[in-house]
Amino acid sequence: MLDASQKTLLNQLLATITRDQQLWLSGYLWGKAEGNEITALPAQQKEKPAIEIFYATETGNAKALALQLMNRLKNAGYKAKNSAVNRVKIDTLTQCTLAVFLISTHGEGDPPTSAQSFFDSLRNAQGTILGDLSYAVLGLGDSSYTIFCGAATTLDAQLARLGARSVHPITLLDVDYAAHTDRWMDGLVQSLDSKYGATTSTPTTTATTPTVHTGKGYSRLEPIEATVQHSVILNDRDSNKQTYHIELIPSAPLAYACGDALGIMLPVGDDGKEPTPRLYSIASSPLAHKGEIHLTVALATHKNADGTVGYGLASKYLADMQEGDIVRVYVAQNQLFKLPAMDVDIIMIGPGTGIAPFRGFVYERAERGDTGRNWLFFGDQHAHCDFLYQAEWQEHLATGALTHIDLAFSRDQEHKVYVQHKMLERASELMAWIRGGASIYVCGAKDPMSHDVDAALRQIIISQEKMSDAQATDYLADLLELGRYVKDVY
Ligand SMILES: Cc1cc2nc3c(=O)[nH]c(=O)nc-3n(C[C@H](O)[C@H](O)[C@H](O)COP(=O)(O)OP(=O)(O)OC[C@H]3O[C@@H](n4cnc5c(N)ncnc54)[C@H](O)[C@@H]3O)c2cc1C
Ligand SMILES: Cc1cc2nc3c(=O)[nH]c(=O)nc-3n(C[C@H](O)[C@H](O)[C@H](O)COP(=O)(O)O)c2cc1C
Repeated sequence: MLDASQKTLLNQLLATITRDQQLWLSGYLWGKAEGNEITALPAQQKEKPAIEIFYATETGNAKALALQLMNRLKNAGYKAKNSAVNRVKIDTLTQCTLAVFLISTHGEGDPPTSAQSFFDSLRNAQGTILGDLSYAVLGLGDSSYTIFCGAATTLDAQLARLGARSVHPITLLDVDYAAHTDRWMDGLVQSLDSKYGATTSTPTTTATTPTVHTGKGYSRLEPIEATVQHSVILNDRDSNKQTYHIELIPSAPLAYACGDALGIMLPVGDDGKEPTPRLYSIASSPLAHKGEIHLTVALATHKNADGTVGYGLASKYLADMQEGDIVRVYVAQNQLFKLPAMDVDIIMIGPGTGIAPFRGFVYERAERGDTGRNWLFFGDQHAHCDFLYQAEWQEHLATGALTHIDLAFSRDQEHKVYVQHKMLERASELMAWIRGGASIYVCGAKDPMSHDVDAALRQIIISQEKMSDAQATDYLADLLELGRYVKDVY
C-alpha cells in the first residue's frame, strides 16, 4: 500500500516516538480514516528511565521489600529490576543512571555479610566517578542498636562522595518498618515523577511476597510473655561448657517457621536503659513441638579484670531461668534461612549452638514426610560430654530422618579437627549432593567457623569440579544468589 519513500518516512517517524505515542497514532489514523475531527497530538512525554533496585540483606526483609518496590515502580510506569548487591562493584554503578538501594544493617552497624565486598569496593573508589548516577537510599535497622542503620548511612555518604546525586532523601526505618514502607514508596515515586515526568501508569500484576508477621510477638516493640517449661544442661560432666536446652510456652499462639530466631527481652538494668534484646535460633519445629519454642543457649563467660568469672548478660539470664519463670520474647523472622522444597537434599553445617535450627529442620522434615535427604556436620570439643542432642540424632539416623552425620570433636585427638576438615574428607559425596541440587546451610560462629567452611566449600568445588579459584568463587556466589547457600552466623 505504501511506496518505498513513504515506508522510509514512516519508519523514520516510528523510530522517534514512544510506545504511548504509537498507541495514540494508531487511534488517530483509524479516526481520521473514519472521517473524524483530528485531535491535538499528546504532549511530548518523557520516557521514564529504567531503575535498578539493589538490596543488601541478611535475613530477607530488604529482599522482600525490593520485590514490592519493583512492582510499585512498574505500576508507576518505570522499568525496574532488582538484584542483590552481592556481586555489584563500583564498575556496575558507573554504568547505571538511576538506582534505589535497600540496605539493612547487621553486626555492630555493619553491612550484611554478603554486601561486604560491595561496600569495600565503594570505600576504595576515588574521584567523582558516579557523576551520572542518581539514587535513593532506604535503610532498615533497629534503633535499639548503638549504630542505627549504619550501613545505609555509610552507603549514602559514599555515593555522595563519589559524585552521585540523591533524588529522594535518605530514609531510615526501624523494626516497625512494614508500617511505613507504603508511604516511603509513594514519596519516592513522587520524587521520581517530579524529576522524570508523570505519565500514565502501566498496571502490572503484583508478585507474591513471603508472609511477614507483624503485631504482637513479632518485634521487640510488642513482645509477649512465655513461661519456661523445662531447662536442662546438655553438656555432661568434664565439659568446659554449659549449653542449656530451654523449652518455652508462649502465652498466646506465636507462629514461626524453622530457621527463625527468638528475641529475648532483658530486664531493665540499674541505669534504667533497656538492654538490646538478644536473638537465639529456634531449635524446635512448629509441627513436631506444637505450642512450644525450644532454644539452645550457650552460657557466655569471660575473665573479669580481677580474675573472677564474668558472664554474658542474656545467656546468664536464660541459664538462671527456672521452670515457671516468665520471659518476654518475640519471633525474629529470617526469610532466607528456610527449608527448601520437600524433595530437595540439605547439607547442614552447625557446630556448637549452630546445631539449634537444624534440630528444628530435621524434626520438621520428618513430620512433613519430606523426601529430600538430610546431612549434618556437627562439632564441639569432646564427644563424651559435648555431643549436643546425641540421643535424638541417633534416633533420627535409625528412622532415616537423618541420612548422614559427620562429627568433628576438636579436642579428642592431638590435632584440632573441625567441621571444615570433615567436609574436606567427604568432598566427593558432598559435591555429588551439591550437583544434585542440595541446599547448604551454615549456622553458628561467624568468626572463624563460617569463613573456614566457606574456604572448605571453595576448595571442594575446585578439586571436584576442576575449577579455578575464580570459577569456584563464582559457583558459590551463584549458590548464594539462588538461596542454595545460606548462613545464619553470629
Ligand atoms: C541470629 C542469631 C542467632 C543466635 N543464636 C544463638 C543460639 O542459638 N544459641 C546461643 O547460645 N547464642 C545464639 N546467638 C548469640 C546470642 O544472641 C548472644 O549474642 C550470646 O548469647 C551472648 O549474649 P550475652 O548477652 O550472654 O553476652 P553479652 O553480655 O552480650 O557479652 C558478649 C560477650 O562478651 C563477654 N563479655 C561481657 N562483658 C565483658 C567484660 N566486661 N569483659 C570481657 N568480656 C565480656 C561475654 O562473656 C560474652 O562472651 C545468636 C545470635 C544471633 C544474632
Ligand atoms: C544480629 C543483628 C545485628 C543487628 N545490628 C544492627 C545494627 O547495628 N544497627 C541497626 O540499625 N540494626 C541492626 N539490626 C537490625 C536489622 O537491620 C533489622 O532487623 C533489619 O530489618 C534486617 O533486615 P534484613 O532482613 O534485610 O537483613 C541487627 C539485627 C540483627 C539480627
